[in-house]
Amino acid sequence: MNQDRQDSASNSSIIVCPDGPILVRGDFDIVTPSGEPVPRQRQTVALCRCGASAIKPYCDGTHKLIKFRTSPVPGDADLNP
Ligand code: FES
Repeated sequence: MNQDRQDSASNSSIIVCPDGPILVRGDFDIVTPSGEPVPRQRQTVALCRCGASAIKPYCDGTHKLIKFRTSPVPGDADLNP
């Protein structure tokens, strides 16, 4: 792994938002199931996980309108019975 890759990897993160999208930050490619690149213009992107976004794979905020809820909350003690 070269130094640039190490630096970008250390600045990468994935944040699972309760009742919302998955925030992904870092140096990565987004591709379709067939391997076609998905245009990306920001270092940090919000990926839809409610399924209702009009701009999939990105979140457009529709999860709020449809009152998307995740349960259990990521990191919740109920995940480890
Ligand atoms: S998670 Fe935001 S629109 Fe789906």
